[in-house]
This record gives sequence, C-alpha cells and structure tokens, in this order.
Amino acid sequence: MSAETLVDELATRIAADRDSVPAHWRVEPQAAARAIREIHDLARARNAILLAHNYQLPEVQEAADFVGDSLGLALEARKTTADVIVFCGVHFMAESASILNPGKRVLLPNLSAGCALADSITPESLLQWKARYPDHAVVTYINSSAEVKALSDICCTSANAVSVVRSLPTDKILFTPDRNLGNWVAKQVPEKEIVVYDGACPTHDVLRGASVEKTRAEHPDAVIIAHPECREDILAIADEVCSTSGMIAAVGRHPEARTFLIATEWALIHQLKTRYPDRTFIPADGCIGCRLHCPYMKAIDLGMVRRALVEDVFEITVDPEDAALARRALERMMAVPRDR
Ligand code: 13P
Ligand code: SF4
Repeated sequence: MSAETLVDELATRIAADRDSVPAHWRVEPQAAARAIREIHDLARARNAILLAHNYQLPEVQEAADFVGDSLGLALEARKTTADVIVFCGVHFMAESASILNPGKRVLLPNLSAGCALADSITPESLLQWKARYPDHAVVTYINSSAEVKALSDICCTSANAVSVVRSLPTDKILFTPDRNLGNWVAKQVPEKEIVVYDGACPTHDVLRGASVEKTRAEHPDAVIIAHPECREDILAIADEVCSTSGMIAAVGRHPEARTFLIATEWALIHQLKTRYPDRTFIPADGCIGCRLHCPYMKAIDLGMVRRALVEDVFEITVDPEDAALARRALERMMAVPRDR
C-alpha cells in the first residue's frame, strides 16, 4: 500500500465519528494522518509500542498499536517485547505497565494525565480504613496509585471486579476506591459482606438517571450500555453494565438493535463507530462531550506522543518496594478471568 493510500485510510478512520466528537476536539483528518505516519516511523526506530485507552482522542487511538480497556492494556504491557512503551492513557495505567514489565521504559506523553478517582484514595486513608476493618480482604480498583495497590490484597478492573471478589476465599471485603463500582459488585455478590470506600470518578458520577431517561424518551428503542463507574440509578436502568472494551462487545449481543445510549466517556464512541458503522451511538446524557468528558484522558494529543518519542519523555518509574507489592496484587488479579 502506498504512503498516500495509508494516509487516506487513516484520515477516513479518524473522520468516521466526526459528528460525535465535540467541536473543540476535532482535528483536520489528513494532517492528523500524516502526523501518525511520522509517529509510526519514530516508534519503529526506537522499537516502541503505542498503547492507548478507549477514551483517548480518536486520532491518538488510530496512532496506537493496541487500543483497549485497563485490563487489556495491562495484559498487553506485560507481554510486549518492545523496548519502550508509550502509554496514551492516564498515570496509573502507565505505572501499572512499568510494574508489570519492569525491564521496559514506560513513557507517559503528558504528566498532567492523572485520574481524579485514583487521587480519591491515599495510602494514609487506606491504612485508616484497613484499621477499621482488620478482617477484610482489600480489593483495589486498578484506578489507584502504586502505593495504594501495594497495600491491597488484590486488584481488579471494571472487566473482572465481580469475578475477583468471588474468587477470594474470604466473605469480608473492603472495596476501594470507587463506590459506584463497589456497590454494583456488592449487588452481584450478595453472599459477601462488602464495605465500600467513598471515592468516585467525577466524569461518571455527575450523570443522573433523569438525564438518561430524558435521552431514552427521544430514542425509546435504544439499548442502554453503562460503565459501572456510573451511579446506581443509571446502572439500574442499563441493559448492559461493563468495562469500556466490554461495552464494545456488548453491542454484538444486540444484533437487532440499531441505536445505543452510551453511558461513559464520549471517546469510546470512536471504537464503537469504527467496529459497528451501521449503528447509531448516542452519549447517554444527550449532551455531547459536555458532561461525560475526562479531562485527564484528553491531556494527550499527537504532538505530545511525537515529543515523547523524540525527547524520551516522561518516564514513569515506581519505587521498587511498592512495585513488588503492587505487582503481587496485579498478578493475582490477572489470574482471574474477565466477568464475561
Ligand atoms: P476501563 O477499565 O473499563 O477501560 O475503565 C477505565 C476508566 O478509567 C474508566 O473511567
Ligand atoms: Fe479517572 Fe474517571 Fe478519567 Fe477514568 S474517566 S481516567 S476514572 S477521572
């Protein structure tokens, strides 16, 4: 395939879901496609792999070698033989990559790409909760710092939280830090006593059932697919509750449905539209990109990815003692299969 055909193909893919990209975030597809070609050349020269989360900007997703949810990205980071991992996601994801594959150089293109949910728990606050519940096994969502993981018995992601909790020999669980995911898991596993920490993701927690109902009234046949970081009233009316990659798979379980309301960060629609071009995907808040927007996931653009490769920035490292303990919690999690 000629270089120009490749650029045209990339540009078409970037433009595929243009209508669902908030105006401020739209790029010129041909220019972005040429930037991606340059990034690929730079990555090849450094034997680097580009990993991107499903919430990254559409053009960053198109630049990546692999796009997925937190669990998929962690598995990919663990098995890569590349010398350098350029992580297009948020800080805790890059940290997990470094923990799982310690020999690799992990670069996060923008150090501002944090996670408000991960910041809602500190090692000190987890120690206080552990002191209050000394008999409880600590299950910590991957959206957390390496220090918090190091104090936990096992990690989970939104793709395997129920299976992780079920897999534990104890019936007493302290689930941290996301209260919406924790409460949802508690409903799926009523036989266990699950104490839930009080953290939340502001991007998801801001959405209300009333907004989703309003959008549904305009699309009465739509299937509602929600991320478990959404509040209880959303999860109660959702037809499917799953991780970001699980949401993509869920569309395939509704072959007759034409329209889907998506209760998660707007950029997932790029993956959905690429895989199911004949379906309609509507942000569940009926307000494109206004509410379901993660500023941290949008802190990385193609210019920053290019800079990461050229200037070798910003390396993510983890204290070796924390890394060893956090690795144990992550590896335990990875031995558990996805919820479905
Ligand atoms: P997933 O693991 O489902 O991709 O979710 C990560 C995340 O940060 C959701 O807000
Ligand atoms: Fe963190 Fe929420 Fe952004 Fe996910 S959407 S990275 S949980 S702030």
